[in-house]
Amino acid sequence: MVATTYPEEILRIREPVRTHLDITSTVFELEKAGRDPVVVFETVEGHSMPVVTNTTGNRRLLAACLGVEAADLPTAFRERCQRYLPCEVVDTAPWQEVTLEGDDVDLTRLPIPIHFSVDGAPYITAGQLVARDPVTGVDTTGFHRLMLKGKNRLGVSLHSRRRMWEFHRRAEERGESLPVAITLGVHPLHYMGSMVYAYPPNVRKFEIIGGLFGAPYRLARCGNTGIEVPAGAEIVIEGEILPGVHEPEGPFGEFTGYASYRSTQNVFVAHRIRMRRDAMFHSVASGMAKDHILVSCVTREGEILNTLRRNLPNVLAVHVPHTTCGAFMAFVKMKKTAQGEPQQAIMAALGTEFYTKYVIVVDEDVDIFDMNDVMWAVATRVRAEQDIVMMPGCKGAILDPTSDPQTFTLTKMGIDATRPVGKDFAERLTISDEQRARVRGILASAGVPT
Ligand SMILES: Cc1cc2nc3c(=O)[nH]c(=O)nc-3n(C[C@H](O)[C@H](O)[C@H](O)COP(=O)(O)O)c2cc1C
Repeated sequence: MVATTYPEEILRIREPVRTHLDITSTVFELEKAGRDPVVVFETVEGHSMPVVTNTTGNRRLLAACLGVEAADLPTAFRERCQRYLPCEVVDTAPWQEVTLEGDDVDLTRLPIPIHFSVDGAPYITAGQLVARDPVTGVDTTGFHRLMLKGKNRLGVSLHSRRRMWEFHRRAEERGESLPVAITLGVHPLHYMGSMVYAYPPNVRKFEIIGGLFGAPYRLARCGNTGIEVPAGAEIVIEGEILPGVHEPEGPFGEFTGYASYRSTQNVFVAHRIRMRRDAMFHSVASGMAKDHILVSCVTREGEILNTLRRNLPNVLAVHVPHTTCGAFMAFVKMKKTAQGEPQQAIMAALGTEFYTKYVIVVDEDVDIFDMNDVMWAVATRVRAEQDIVMMPGCKGAILDPTSDPQTFTLTKMGIDATRPVGKDFAERLTISDEQRARVRGILASAGVPT
């Protein structure tokens, strides 16, 4: 779709690049220049497989995946992620073309990048891990960073402590390993669907992804246990996460903008590698690259909006900026009708997503996609002694450097930056659209572009 509909959003680089630092730092340079194209590195030194990166670093392209404009993305996502569609299981998939097993299993043959100079080893960042709940059999899919440790060994961190972490804990309780398939090279809608957290326990994430596509998601079986993975994937690595085994994993340049030394330190052993004959290696640019964070922003916007709209129909929009590490901060825009509504919104938003630690609620005249406008509202509408609430001792993200190093708890904060209801408040300065059009005309006549 990108190549045909948005040819300006795909960049093919033929010049040789190294897996050491070149791939992710190219994405950062492009971001600095205000560009977020999908980047294909056709010639990677020492490897025959091309590398594709930055498939999710662009709001416009993510919106196009759902067939909407960027401004409508959170609402479209919020609606579509609640339509669960049964999957279709097919017998053949392109990733069955090549199978490497036994001594041929060699992960070092993949062009796995080192993203930052601090990284402890090459890291697979686009790996979607698929596994079944050992108790219920319902499967899940989600990103988990994978550190190259040897031909068939990867370090894995399950620090988000969601389903994969819980499935592994349940398997470990039985003294068993957790069969896992790592899929590489799937559609951005898969990435978005994999980040949905609030859904019934009997629903499969693949059914949510089907809802996003508006068609049953096509899966094919792999591994000894018949785990179902996307038929369209480029590469599938079959294996298991070992029980009771912990090895050093990290450091890794994380979405927080810091080198992360925190990890659950699990170990994945690969048994088979399967791939398309012409497979491309997909890598997510790490650190604070939009490629790493934007999917989390969009999905948090949709899910927080879903929660808030249930009780507060006057909530107009939610924005989760990528510059505040994605899930850590959320802005809520509402047409306030009664005192106390922002506080309800703050509690509900913080309760929806434990990664979110700061919520700022603003009035309908504030542009929540403009950080300056939100900061203006905080500067002029907040009386700290009454408008800021703090909740200490909450479960936070392990990777948040402010979370307690033992318990990973932290203090959450809500800021009500709305005007009081039923009282006079200072009148905001505005310039009408008509007046703006008039002066744009004057400037145009004076040869000044606007
Ligand atoms: C690009 C990206 C990388 C991520 N890396 C990790 C990771 O290394 N470990 C982790 O636990 N969660 C990571 N996450 C978050 C999980 O993928 C997310 O919480 C997912 O829903 C977990 O799936 P699960 O419910 O199957 O555990 C990442 C998210 C994104 C968008």
